[in-house]
Amino acid sequence: MCGIFAYTGRKNAVPILLDGLSSLEYRGYDSAGVYCPASGSVKSVGAVGNLLKNIDGLSGESGIAHIRWATHGEPTEKNAHPHRDCTGKVWVVHNGIIENYLDLKKKLAMKSHRFSSDTDTEVLAHLVEEHLKKKKSFEAAVVQALREVRGTYGAVFAYETEPDKLVAARMGAPVVLGLGSHENFVASDPSPIMRHTKDAIFMKDGEVAVITPDTHTVYNLNFDRIDRAAEKIEGDAEAIKKGGYRHFMLKEIMEEPDVVKNTLRGRLLTKNGLAKLGGLESVAERLRGVKRIIIVGCGTAYYAGLAGEYMLEGHAGLPVEVEVGSEFRYRKPVLDNSTALVAISQSGETADTLEAVREAKRQGILTLGIINAVGSTIARETDAGIYNHAGPEIGVASTKAFISQLTALALLTLFLGRQRGMSLAEGKRIAEELTRIPEKIASILKDERKIKAVAKKYKDCRDFLYMGRTYNYPVALEGALKLKEISYIHAEGYGAGEMKHGPLAMIDGSFPTVAIAPSGSVYEKMLSNIQEIRARKGPIIAVSTAGDKMMRQFASDTMFIPETIEMLSPLLAVVPLQLFAYHIATLRKLDVDRPRNLAKSVTVE
Ligand code: F6R
Repeated sequence: MCGIFAYTGRKNAVPILLDGLSSLEYRGYDSAGVYCPASGSVKSVGAVGNLLKNIDGLSGESGIAHIRWATHGEPTEKNAHPHRDCTGKVWVVHNGIIENYLDLKKKLAMKSHRFSSDTDTEVLAHLVEEHLKKKKSFEAAVVQALREVRGTYGAVFAYETEPDKLVAARMGAPVVLGLGSHENFVASDPSPIMRHTKDAIFMKDGEVAVITPDTHTVYNLNFDRIDRAAEKIEGDAEAIKKGGYRHFMLKEIMEEPDVVKNTLRGRLLTKNGLAKLGGLESVAERLRGVKRIIIVGCGTAYYAGLAGEYMLEGHAGLPVEVEVGSEFRYRKPVLDNSTALVAISQSGETADTLEAVREAKRQGILTLGIINAVGSTIARETDAGIYNHAGPEIGVASTKAFISQLTALALLTLFLGRQRGMSLAEGKRIAEELTRIPEKIASILKDERKIKAVAKKYKDCRDFLYMGRTYNYPVALEGALKLKEISYIHAEGYGAGEMKHGPLAMIDGSFPTVAIAPSGSVYEKMLSNIQEIRARKGPIIAVSTAGDKMMRQFASDTMFIPETIEMLSPLLAVVPLQLFAYHIATLRKLDVDRPRNLAKSVTVE
């Protein structure tokens, strides 16, 4: 989704800004632009690289830059940020949505303002222009303008008359200040800042920051100064490179054994069958009294939550409901103080999940996060939580984050289960098996070539059905999502028991079904469902446990996973499906890291 980067210092801003935009590319976008107060603006549709064609005249020691993911107005040059006022002196880049922009636009048009884009953002520049006319300072004019705005923003303003001063503001969309030596930065996430400095201020909603190369000052929307101490950005800029792989997605799948190790690190007391979760210590007593859990997430994170439902109900004896954030927030949920909400989010910035957390907080219930991005908004706003420690995920299609979410949910199950009567033996069994998961994932990854061969056979199919039961029903949903989002092939996930209630009608010889059928309590039921499909000549691609001879007979193609306990089987079963989707998409010559129409961090509703 949209990304912001801004710089003021003593160096040539242009390469710094372009480099910063490149490190935000993973968010997914459709156009880009840069403005330098000393020389003007350049915008282009498509990749950041397209800006290079017209960048020659651009220079200066400060500037603001943006990648846009269209919400208001098509992805055209005219609608790309930065946007300007009528004088061409005030410029702004913005993430979020100005909800009252039509009203504001009308009022500004009556004062003779002329607009050059279809965006909501442009009103911000014109509002600042209005306040500058009233002889306010640049920063005071920005504060005044923001007081008239309703909606969400992470924004940076530049002013030709004061080229080394930038004004940043946050309301509902993340903004980070990077503090360097004789240079300062603003960005929508830490990734473009990390390569320059680790000292940062994560702005809060309602804050406005004024930066020059040597100063930074933070205000509230009453224009009172506030003291904000810098903190260190965690993480490693190097981790954001492809490391020899063709795509981030493949690199991230290959990292999965280490990801599980990192999520588990220091958190398993295997001999005692316990999970030690530092992030939950402060609320451990409150958690003892919890009688119901609601998990919220979106997309892949939601599917991880569904697997978590099976884990927590099956092993911790807790009733669990799982809901997508966008529904939960508008549902008037009935919550009482024995309910806890668990928000799952890789980015920690997903607007729908964040609003679900806020709704839960309004109702006074305990909120927990399972979050990958350290310091992100959801991580900050929840009462306590578990960090995934999966490292930055750049590929738009979530892979390693899903694995780490499942691992964190298994830890949470152990933690809550042992609080509620899970036996020592059961705790040890889960803990011991968790430690074996990394090597088991590694063994699946060794089969990549075989999985690619299966992908080659099916790459031209128009439709796929994915089916599974219990723990592997969410895996079917996630497998289908992976395929559709990066290959644009129609794929649907179903609970296998539901096939005969409708979807079976679609099956014929050209419609393959991916059946997730590892050994376990529902294995035989899965075999029956597979038979029903075979009887209609539907090809079966099975994910099954190594050594399953029966499946070799029934399935047209099989992808094997090692034996594990049922609760942890999603951690293995999803891996071949991620590789399968990856290879189908690359064989179809598609950009797997940046699928069309999608964004990595979905910060709008
Ligand atoms: C799919 C995918 C999305 C995200 C969803 C939530 O591959 O990546 O479905 O899972 O947008 O994002 P986070 O986890 O950042 O809240």
